[in-house]
Amino acid sequence: MTTNSSNTDILYLLAAGIAVGGTGYFIKRLLSESSVKKAKVPAGTGPKKGKYHSDPDAPPPEPTPLYITPEQVKTRDDRPWRPFRWPYHQTMSIFKLDVNHWLDMDKYYYDYIKEKERVFHTYGEDNIGRLPGSEEACLELMEMVKSHMLKRYPLLFTTEDNGVHVKNELTGETLDFSLPLKLDPLIYISKMAKEDFYIVLKDDEGVHRLMAAAVPFPGGGFGVKHKLGKTLDVIHTNVPYYENKLKPSMERWFAKMAPADLVERASWFISWDHRLLLTSIYSLINGEKIQSDVQPTEFNVRVERQTLRRLPKSKAIIFTNHPVFHSIEEMKDEPLVPSLIRKIIFEAPEGIIKYKNFESFRDHIVPYLNKLVDRQIELGLIKEDTPIKTLPSYPFAQFVKDSDVMKGWTNPKYPGNYSEKFREEVKDSPEFEMKTYAKMGGAVGFH
Ligand code: HEM
Repeated sequence: MTTNSSNTDILYLLAAGIAVGGTGYFIKRLLSESSVKKAKVPAGTGPKKGKYHSDPDAPPPEPTPLYITPEQVKTRDDRPWRPFRWPYHQTMSIFKLDVNHWLDMDKYYYDYIKEKERVFHTYGEDNIGRLPGSEEACLELMEMVKSHMLKRYPLLFTTEDNGVHVKNELTGETLDFSLPLKLDPLIYISKMAKEDFYIVLKDDEGVHRLMAAAVPFPGGGFGVKHKLGKTLDVIHTNVPYYENKLKPSMERWFAKMAPADLVERASWFISWDHRLLLTSIYSLINGEKIQSDVQPTEFNVRVERQTLRRLPKSKAIIFTNHPVFHSIEEMKDEPLVPSLIRKIIFEAPEGIIKYKNFESFRDHIVPYLNKLVDRQIELGLIKEDTPIKTLPSYPFAQFVKDSDVMKGWTNPKYPGNYSEKFREEVKDSPEFEMKTYAKMGGAVGFH
């Protein structure tokens, strides 16, 4: 990416030290696979029936207030994603999104915002930037994020002057939105929401291009600066089965996606740390395998929870991504989860196995997974011949139905909390990143 004036502005702000201080009704028509099921999830998180595409002029839905306090956020868990599918084919696998879940809140919020700050300060335009032509969309998105936070979380984001100044009660920072803006809109967005943001616009030839992005947490699989200005086709070049399986559905979806049509999806891979910018699995290159001293109990599933929506004025498509981790250990008593993970890492379509680097660690953890499967049989959670297939509660853990949006979704049996581990890993991250990037020949991300 060549540096342009917008990016220079962002870097200037960063250098000046100002920077970042229902799921589930499957879209059957779009899915070609047979694993389509109705998710059994409770109201507010659950499937919405009815017409899928809205009137193009219908206003986007507004969130309803959730009166959680900063204190409650400290122990709050988000919806427990279990996005494991079998049979596993590359499909869009999207669900209708309840606007209340567009920008979710959990106990990792503060640490993620602080990690954004570190990444942007350290790497600048490798992870945040925009191209000329995206100004209107970036401002519109900033207003939408601000308005969402104020309406959805009235005790977490407060204002006394109708949004000219907004206090983030979780970080303690007051954001000054008075004009002219002091910061780049992407910075304001990144200071309010823990998600990564991608802003996609149609060019003059009607082709979708990534025009702006604030992506501190790509996981190491790719560097967003290499994607800016590129078409969605080019961006997805390395994605297995994109051309045949994903592209046609995506194009159809985008052609009809109205501002009132919000969807979400969850992708996942496995790693043995919680690093957000560059995770251990993507630090292995050229067929390297995991070092043998990593304990199998340290392995976790990194869920990449994603949303898609369209802005009403600029018509930009907003794609968000938010990584959240669930250790295999905390899921060990959930019927079929270890069996599904084992099956997928060995038997998924070849392209997916390669893309997610499953070969680098699967022999290392298979004895552990075998033990967990045997344990489930002994405990009577599954039988030897229970068919391995997508969970009835997909894309969530079974216990999603036992909780609600006010309490959050803490695992009742094995409550997970990786905050402390995460903070330790962040301390080591600069060295880890330096070594890995040196090994990669200085490149940020694989491609
Ligand atoms: C419209 C905005 C979108 C943007 C900006 C975007 C961006 C990206 C990027 C940067 C990657 C990483 C590519 C790499 O490894 O080099 C990726 C991967 C991927 N994208 Fe997209 N994407 C978008 C929409 C979608 C949609 C609508 C789908 C399907 C519903 C999709 C499916 C995937 C899949 C399957 C992968 C591979 C990783 C995974 O398993 O999730 N993307 N995308």
